[in-house]
Amino acid sequence: MQTVTLYPHMLHGCDYNPEQWFDRPEILSQDILQMQQANINCVSLGIFAWSVLEPAEGEYCFDRLAEIISTLYANGIRTVLATPSAARPMWMDMKYPEVRRVTADRIRVPLGGRHNHCYTSPVLREKVRAINTLLAKRFAHDPGVILWHVGNEIQGECHCGLCQAAFREWLKARYGTLDALNAAWWTSFWSNTYTDWAQIESPDPAGDTGIQGLALDWKRFCTAQTRSFLENETAPLRAENPLIPVTTNFMQFYDGVNYRALAKSLDVTSWDCYPTWHCTPDGDESGQACLADAFSDICRSMLKKPFLLMENTPSHTNWHAVCRPKTWGFHRLTAISAIAHGADSIQYFQWRQSRGGNEKLHGAVMTHANRTDTRVFQEVSDLGRTLQRLDAVCGARTNARIAILYDPESHWAVNAAKGPRNGDIGDTDLMMRFYLPFWKSGYAVDFVDAETDFSGYHLLCVPMLYMLRNDVAKRICDFVLLGGTAVLTLHSGIADEHDLCFMSDTPAQGLAELAGIRYLESDPLYDGQHETMHIVKAPFPLAESYRLEKLCERVAPAGAEVLGVYGTGNPCMPDDLPCLTRHAFGRGTAYYVGAFAEDRFFADFLPELAERLGVRPVLDTTFPHGVAAAARQGLDGTEYLFIMNWTREQKSVNLPYALKDFESGKIYQSKLPLSPYGAKILVKA
Ligand code: GAL
Repeated sequence: MQTVTLYPHMLHGCDYNPEQWFDRPEILSQDILQMQQANINCVSLGIFAWSVLEPAEGEYCFDRLAEIISTLYANGIRTVLATPSAARPMWMDMKYPEVRRVTADRIRVPLGGRHNHCYTSPVLREKVRAINTLLAKRFAHDPGVILWHVGNEIQGECHCGLCQAAFREWLKARYGTLDALNAAWWTSFWSNTYTDWAQIESPDPAGDTGIQGLALDWKRFCTAQTRSFLENETAPLRAENPLIPVTTNFMQFYDGVNYRALAKSLDVTSWDCYPTWHCTPDGDESGQACLADAFSDICRSMLKKPFLLMENTPSHTNWHAVCRPKTWGFHRLTAISAIAHGADSIQYFQWRQSRGGNEKLHGAVMTHANRTDTRVFQEVSDLGRTLQRLDAVCGARTNARIAILYDPESHWAVNAAKGPRNGDIGDTDLMMRFYLPFWKSGYAVDFVDAETDFSGYHLLCVPMLYMLRNDVAKRICDFVLLGGTAVLTLHSGIADEHDLCFMSDTPAQGLAELAGIRYLESDPLYDGQHETMHIVKAPFPLAESYRLEKLCERVAPAGAEVLGVYGTGNPCMPDDLPCLTRHAFGRGTAYYVGAFAEDRFFADFLPELAERLGVRPVLDTTFPHGVAAAARQGLDGTEYLFIMNWTREQKSVNLPYALKDFESGKIYQSKLPLSPYGAKILVKA
């Protein structure tokens, strides 16, 4: 996709839903002034405005929208213009029931609601195309419009007859014959052989969940269908003016569709960030922060460029179990951290708190009291001032030499499979165990999938790559052959792209040879049970032993050096079974981690390994607990360093060289003090 930046500044914006106040002109007239006071430079407009934009079929009323866009622009506020597809007008739901989604248990949803449309419905596609075409004609050359925000939080799946038919066509194109489909889905088991395409139905909770190829292909189909819906939306926008970039906002770790596939149809990725802040007894927010930053890194890695933080709350949500407001100063911390990990915007849901409806108690920049002297307003406004000074960071890249392979399709498959540990196999947990130590010690990390080019990375972490698709095994082997270092783990290389197990030693397709081991058996543990990894040959300083849990894999060495062995206290088990190995392969090295090791293992192992590969953290220091750092390379070559304190204690960071506070100009020679929940932006002094 083209890289276009129409507005080369950090965006500081909010969802703006003025249609709620059309009968209150005095409120609308205050908005602009108050936005200026809040240092807001853009709004996302029209996200849920379809019933205002097309109040009756074919009757379009864009004048009000045009007036708002132009008044905003005249006052220095740009528009991120939404297409309104996330919520349909009632007249459409009533006249064309096919636009309403059918749930997995085969119930068509009633009129209204949002995020509940059918992605296949030709009527809906036509209606979306029509309104988007007109929106584009009217606004795609408007100087105030800088970005298209397509739909909102695209999500879910529809099981209507149209979708079932489209699914069957998609399957015919994929497999050609029913014989090929039956073979790929292993349907001869349990007498599930399909003899007519019409027998194929999307997964149904009341039905059979044993055909895992069906479940996997359904998710692939939903991704393809969602993507084609998205492209149906973007085609008229791009046709009118290809220079306006297009995005849609993702939800953290939502796995109903493969976001990486959707990203291919976008110019810029974006996501909505709503962690469960302040849920710990001691105020240590690093757990939630690490998860949020991981998704920022995922979002940035999809197109390998900065992303937008399309939504977060300036204060609190109304949908967490307990909706705590961000405490004093915390909003700035979360925003700086998002920017540190590649965000080029901080945007809110929403500008003004709704008076009624579902989100009336959700936080907003302006609350019902309509005051600008609130703490939240002040913090938003202060952040806006900081962002105004960060133009040089806007567009700045992240230089990661470490990649974590987290493949959405493998994630689907490993979680749908029965065994060896049911409920949660823990692939995401294992991925986060890899990410955490890098996050804690300030290493930049990209996330890649089975389709990404691995060249340019020095260290490739491959946690639980259950499914091998798209030549990925060969490309991992080539990466190591050419001098890279890979860390493979348990429960990898088991199934092919159809989720059919390889009839060979595993990890299959050359990965066992790469790691110099061969899989023998899996030994899953109940919660509370554990085993131990004893280090027998430390490649660099490691503790004597580490705790293992969840799932232990027994392997036989086949060329690899054994670095760690299992110790279980089980007298029946041999005492030399490896759980950590190293194998030289070509010009590189492959490590194998056989079990869910405790965080301490990964903390001791991974940063040290990275260091030996010549990969440096953003700052050569040991960060105190709860402090994290990240860096971005400005377009002028300046490196911007961001240091965040996720605890409510004062912290101090030892500096290897003097740093200058980018905002205050203050120089720190050897120690950087960080106030509780403080965040600093620094450059070399
Ligand atoms: C998002 C959604 C917004 C708003 C927000 C509330 O998921 O996109 O429209 O509902 O949540 O937190």
